[in-house]
Formats: sequence, C-alpha cells, structure tokens
Amino acid sequence: MKILVTSALPYANGDIHLGHLAGAYLPADIYVRYQRLKGRDVIHICGTDEHGVPITVLADQQKKTPREIVDYYHESIKKSFIEFGISFDNFSRTTIPLHYRLAQDFFLKIYNKGYIYAKENEQFYCPKCQRFLPDRYVVGKCPRCGIDGAKGDQCEACGRWLEPFQLIEPRCLICNERPVKQKTKHWYFRLSQFQNQLVWWIEEKKHWRETVLSSVKGWLKEGLQDRPITRDMSWGVPVPLEEARGKVLYVWFDAPIGYISSTMEWAINKGEPDLWKEYWFNPETKLVHFIGKDNIVFHALIWPAMLMAYGDYILPSEIPANQFLNLEGEKLSTSRGYAIWLPEYLKEFPADSLRYALTRNLPETRDSDFTWRDFQAWHNNELADILGNYINRTLTFIEKYYNYNVPSASAFTESENRILDMLHKAPGIIGEKIENFEFKNALQEVMKLAQEGNRYFDKEAPWITRKTNPLIGERTMYICMKIVTSLAVLIEPFLPFTAQKLKKMINFTEQSWDHISTPIVPTTIGKPEILFKKIENQVIEVQIAKLKKKECTIDDFNKLELRTARVVSAKKVEGSDHLIVCEIEIGDKKKQIVAGIGKYYQPEELIGKTIIVVNNLKPVTLKGVLSEGMLLAAQDKEGLVLLTTDKPISPGATVK
Ligand code: 2FM
Ligand code: ZN
Repeated sequence: MKILVTSALPYANGDIHLGHLAGAYLPADIYVRYQRLKGRDVIHICGTDEHGVPITVLADQQKKTPREIVDYYHESIKKSFIEFGISFDNFSRTTIPLHYRLAQDFFLKIYNKGYIYAKENEQFYCPKCQRFLPDRYVVGKCPRCGIDGAKGDQCEACGRWLEPFQLIEPRCLICNERPVKQKTKHWYFRLSQFQNQLVWWIEEKKHWRETVLSSVKGWLKEGLQDRPITRDMSWGVPVPLEEARGKVLYVWFDAPIGYISSTMEWAINKGEPDLWKEYWFNPETKLVHFIGKDNIVFHALIWPAMLMAYGDYILPSEIPANQFLNLEGEKLSTSRGYAIWLPEYLKEFPADSLRYALTRNLPETRDSDFTWRDFQAWHNNELADILGNYINRTLTFIEKYYNYNVPSASAFTESENRILDMLHKAPGIIGEKIENFEFKNALQEVMKLAQEGNRYFDKEAPWITRKTNPLIGERTMYICMKIVTSLAVLIEPFLPFTAQKLKKMINFTEQSWDHISTPIVPTTIGKPEILFKKIENQVIEVQIAKLKKKECTIDDFNKLELRTARVVSAKKVEGSDHLIVCEIEIGDKKKQIVAGIGKYYQPEELIGKTIIVVNNLKPVTLKGVLSEGMLLAAQDKEGLVLLTTDKPISPGATVK
C-alpha cells in the first residue's frame, strides 16, 4: 500500500502561525514520520497556495506586485517549516508552469465532459477602478451583526459567510467608491450533479471524525449548488477558453490540483517523472488530507466531486480535519495581527517544545486554547522534569559509575518483566493511536514510559544497590537503558530534534518502529547533555506582554481616509477657549470640523492653510457644534503644531 499525505497548501500571503500548525501541519508530520519508521511507502506533499484575492489584496495594500508577495512568503514559509521539523517530501508552489498546465488540463477535461457551463450574472463593478470586484474587494456593513468592515465573503467579527450583494453600504476596498452591479460571464462547476454520488461515497466513511461528518452531512442536506469557478482578475491561472480571456480560475479550483502538481514535481526531482502516477492513479493508495476545519467543505465535497468529474484519479481516503486553536482565550486573527508567528517563536524557543505543547493540546475533537503559561508548565514539568530528567539521570549515572559502558543483565524480577512487556507493546499501542489520528493520546502513551522509568529508578535506588549489591545495580541500569532506547525511537514522530540528539548521545542508529519493541541497548554511550533547559518566568512574561500590545494592521490603517483640506474660514466656538470651528474645502466638497487648537493658534492664522484631516470620521457634536472630521497635529511638551504638506497640493488629495 502507498500512502499519499497532503497538508493544506498555505496561502503565500503571511507567515505560518500556531493555528496553522495545530490544524494541519504538525499532525500530518507526526503521521508521516511514524509511517516512515514503519517502513511504509509514504510521501508528504505540500506547497504554497499563491493565487486568490487575499494575495492580491495584500499586494494592493503594500503597493507591491502579487509576484513579489508570493515569492517572499513562499521562501519564508518554507524556511520556518524546515526549522520546525515539518518533513515534506515536496514543497511546491501553485505558480509554477507545471501547475498552470495541469489546472488548465483539469478544467478542459471536465469542461469537455459537460461538467462546466457558462452563465451571465451580475457582479459588483467599481466604476472608478474600472474593474470587477471579486468577493473580498467589496467591504461594507455585515447584514447580521452590523459591523462595518465586513468583507464580501465573510464577516470576521461574527463569522458569517457572505455574498458581496448582502453587504450593507458596499464600497470598493481599494478606492472606497460605491460599486455598481454589472453583468459578467462566469463558468460554473456542476457540483449539484454529484450530490448522489457524494452521498454514497460519504456513507462509506463511517469512521471519519464526527466533526467532519456532521459538517459534510449538513451541506449535503441543504443540497449542493453549482459553483462559479472563474473570476474577473488577472492574477491566477488563465481560464483556457478563448471566450474567457482576462478571466482566471477561482483559487479553490486550482489549489487542490496543487496536490497533484506538487507530486509531479516531486517525481521529476527524483528523476522518475512518471512515479506520481503510481500514487494518484493507484486504487491501493491511501490519500490522506490534513486540513483545518475551515477547509472541510472544499476537501470533503467539492474536491472529491472534481476528482469524480475528471475520472482516473483516486479519491481521498481520510480527512482528519482539526478544529481551531485559540490563543489565550481569544480567536486568532491574522488581520488583527493576533497570533504567534512561527518565525518569531523560533527565534526564542526550541521547535520541539512547541511541537510538544501543541500535540498535547491538539484541537482534535473540539477547539482548544494555547496559553504561554501552559506552554511553560508543560515544557518545565513534563519535557524537562519527566522526559529530560529521566534520560539525564540514567545517562549521567552510567557515565559516572560505569564509565560510559552500559551494564548488561539477564535474569529479571517480575516488575522488570512487566516493564519489558510494556516496552514490547508500546510501539503497537502508540502506532494504533497514530493511525487513528489520535495524536494527543499517542503522545500520552509515550510519556507514560518516561514516567514509568522515573518510578522504577526511584524504587530501585541504584545509588544504593551499586554499593550494596552491584549486580542489582547493573540490572537496574540495564532496564533503565532499555526504556531510554525505546524512547529514542518512539519520541521521533513528536520530537524529532530531541530524538536525533538522544540517538547521537547513546550511539544508537535504529530507524525501525517495529524493531524497537525489543530494544537492543547500545553497549556504550557518549557524553550526556541536558535535553530541555527550564524556561524562566520572565521569558514567558515578555511573550504574554507582546500579545497584549495593541497592534495596528494595515487593514486597520486603511480604514482611515486621510485627505488634504484647505481652511476657508475659522472662528472660535462660542463659550470655549480652545475649540475652533473651521470651514474646510476637500476637493469640491465643503464641511466643517471643530479642533481643540485654540491655545496654540488664532483663527485668522488658519485661513488658507492646507491641513490633513481624517475625512471618514463619524460626525460628532462638540459644544453644540457639528464636527465632520478631525485634523492632524503633532504635539510635544512645547506645544502643538498643525500637520501640512511639504509642497503645495490641491485640497482633497489622498494622504497615505
Ligand atoms: O485555507 C487556506 O489556507 C487555503 N490556502 C488552503 C488550500 S488547501 C488546498 F486545497 F490547496
Ligand atoms: Zn475602486
């Protein structure tokens, strides 16, 4: 049997954070490392998802090209995955020519089979930018919670999925203009035709996680609708039809095809360009998609339907989707910058400590919460005090009293035989849990061995028997080394860096999960080193403080509409010394603002000045006078100075 494992292709518009790791990549890596140790034919395929609106929006905001954005994040994401020990066999990108060809071929094949049709529809069009506005390019008020700033596909505040036309007071994300509805032609995938086939297919998946099944069944119950799979954009895979010039494939159409193109790239790099077919066209292959819960509908319904439409390819066997990971009790938010980013984490702490904390707390059946305090506690009390301490006390004892030579022994007591039996069974028990995607429980089983080791060491007190009955002392250390040796292999899927260090320390090279059920202890060991240093309180406090710091994202900043304005007239607000009401001109519009600058400026001084104002501030009344904006000024202890422009410029110019 072959095992083809994929992890969701991350968008190349930001770094990886803890939520991503807990959702897909870490469980996938544990699974794959285990399968490799079992000697199975497994490959782990991934890459960056480089199309779609989130990428072009970010490029627009940063005044960069989408290409610059994806080049940067592809490298950054790839680097942090390597440093975190995520062991992909191939990490590709969806902007390589091979992927374009494959995605276009996929489209054409199912188009020619009649599974794609064209339809004219109305869509938002921005008259000022002269372009159609795909989902996230339209913002407005959420019809459910009323919050302004909801995006055309989802309101981040209340989580509701939206269509752009549902937004109240819609506006163009780029220029703030009100968009108009205009006709455009798009190509639709006949998802509805696959309803029955999908129902039957899902019927066989009784062992899937309840969370996955219930969301899939919910969609099926509602009835599947045909889905538009093209967009009016220039960034993406061009639709391979003459009449669709200027349109690209919807990112969720091309992205999963990236699993196949990445496998093809892997085969080419291996010098066996046809090898990918042995996975994708082989009914014996187990195809496992690791994803977060927000991707379930795509992987468990739309993607299988696409594969059914195409024919030839295998369908997913397993979709062990995880729930969400929260952070210190709050939802992670990329746009608010509320997350722990992997490159930042790796600057301060070892990869394995996070792998441990996340695995221990994986959102396998429900959302879970990551806190820095738990992280510290688990690192100190479990990794350092249980696992690290057990290994260290065993190795330093052998170093000190047996001169690095591991003692041997043959006849054992009942309790020792029980330990040997436990070691014998451990790979099977842990392996079964991993194969059932119960990674949290599997890790717990591994830790039980270290706990058992500590108990045994304490009970046998080799520091005494060494002197009173040397043979017993030797036997104790031999058993202790059996446990250490087993651990060196059994921790590998979870803590690969520690496993490597430990193996080196004990001169051990075993690579097989099955052999470790009867561990053959090395005869000599090297110099023991501390595997986990304690993490101090102050180090954790700095991290907690970092999260509390209010960060302003580019999205937050873009909410402000800053403009130049000319002061036409100004006078003191009656009854107030420091309020001045100014009539200002912004482009061809006039409005009035009230500013608290009376202590520093006389009204006459202001007339004719070009100032900078926040033009979209909600109007307020100050001392009974309406103020429709706010001017910008710089203040220090000497006083206050108005902001103006370096050179003359027309009133109403945008400030950015
Ligand atoms: O949600 C996401 O981050 C998507 N980029 C996942 C794509 S998975 C696959 F289909 F490519
Ligand atoms: Zn616009």
